[in-house]
Amino acid sequence: MNIFITGSNGQVGFELQRQFALFGNVVAPTRHELDLTDAQAVDAYLAEHQPALILNAAAYTAVDKAESEPEQAKRLNTELPAQLAEYAAKHAITLVHYSTDYVYPGDGETPWQEDSPTAPHSVYGQTKLEGDQAVTQSGCQHLIFRTSWVYAARGSNFMKTMLRLGRERETLSIVNDQIGAPTPARLIAQATALAFTTHDSPLTTHHSLLTIHHSPLTIHIPSGIYHLAPRGETSWHGFASEIFKQAQALGEELAIQSGTVNGIPTAEFPTPAQRPLNSRMSLTKLEAALGVTLPVWQHQLALTLTEYCEE
Ligand SMILES: NC(=O)c1ccc[n+]([C@@H]2O[C@H](COP(=O)([O-])OP(=O)(O)OC[C@H]3O[C@@H](n4cnc5c(N)ncnc54)[C@H](OP(=O)(O)O)[C@@H]3O)[C@@H](O)[C@H]2O)c1
Repeated sequence: MNIFITGSNGQVGFELQRQFALFGNVVAPTRHELDLTDAQAVDAYLAEHQPALILNAAAYTAVDKAESEPEQAKRLNTELPAQLAEYAAKHAITLVHYSTDYVYPGDGETPWQEDSPTAPHSVYGQTKLEGDQAVTQSGCQHLIFRTSWVYAARGSNFMKTMLRLGRERETLSIVNDQIGAPTPARLIAQATALAFTTHDSPLTTHHSLLTIHHSPLTIHIPSGIYHLAPRGETSWHGFASEIFKQAQALGEELAIQSGTVNGIPTAEFPTPAQRPLNSRMSLTKLEAALGVTLPVWQHQLALTLTEYCEE
C-alpha cells in the first residue's frame, strides 16, 4: 500500500514520513522528482503509484511573496488540493490536507471555532481557504488540519531564525500583539497518525492480529476540519523570549538575554501580507475526536529545542 506524501522536504512533510513509515510504503517525492505546479505530472504520478492514502503537506508558504505571486500560490494552495481531492473521491481513499489560521478574520480575542466565519486578509490565506473549500466540496473522505506558527528542528522557521539572531545581537524587537500557539511539525504528524490508529490497530493492540477491524489507512474520526496546535497561547515576543530562556538553559551561547527582547506592535513592523492579530484556535473538537489532551506549547518547544541543540 503506497502512502503519497507531498512536501517531503518541508517541516510537516518530513515528520509525516517518520510517522507513516509504520503504516505502509511511503512515496514522498522531492520538488526535483515531482514539480507540483505541473498538474499533468501529478496525475501521472498518481496513476503510477496508486496511493491508498494521500497526505498533502506541500504548500506555497511564503506568505509575503504570495502577494506578488498569486498564481503560484493558487496552484499550490488551491488547485493542487482540489486535484488530490478529486482523485481521492474517485478512488475512495482518504486525503489529509493542512491549512492555517490565516483563513479567519484575525480580529478580536476569542478562539476561532472550525465553523467560525472565514475572512482572509492575504493571498496566502485566501488561496488556502479556497483549497479547504475544494477538499470539503469534493466529497472525498478527508481531514483538514488548520494549524498555526509551525516550527521544527529542521527547515526555515521562527525558532531557528531567533536562535541565529540571538547569537548575533544583544537586543531584538519582536511583535507582541499577534497571539497564537507555536506548533511543532512533529506534533502535527503525531496527531495526524492518531486519527488512523485505534485500540484495535496493529500499532497498539496487545491481542492477536485477528482483533484488527479496520485498515490502518482508514480514519476513525469523522471527515472534516480540525484545529491542531498545542494548548496555551503567546505572542511572537513571548515565543522568542521563551526560546532564548530555554536555549540558554540548554547551554546555547547567545548574545541576547530573554529579558532584553523588546515588544513592538505589528504597526511598527510592516510586511507585504497582513498578519492576523488573533490566531487563537479552539482545540476542543480535535481533543474530543482523538480522546487526547494536547500538550502545552512550552513543553513542545523544550523537546524541539533539545533535538535542535543536540544536533
Ligand atoms: N509554516 C507555518 O507557519 C504554517 C502555519 C500554518 C499552517 N501551515 C500549513 O502547514 C502545511 C505544511 O507547512 P510547512 O511549514 O511544513 O511548509 P514548508 O516547510 O514550507 O514546506 C512546504 C513544502 O512544499 C514543497 N513545495 C512547494 N512548492 C512545490 C512545488 N512546486 N513542487 C514540489 N514541492 C513544492 C516545498 O518544497 P521545497 O522544500 O523544495 O521548497 C516544501 O517541501 C502547509 O499546508 C501550510 O500551509 C504552515
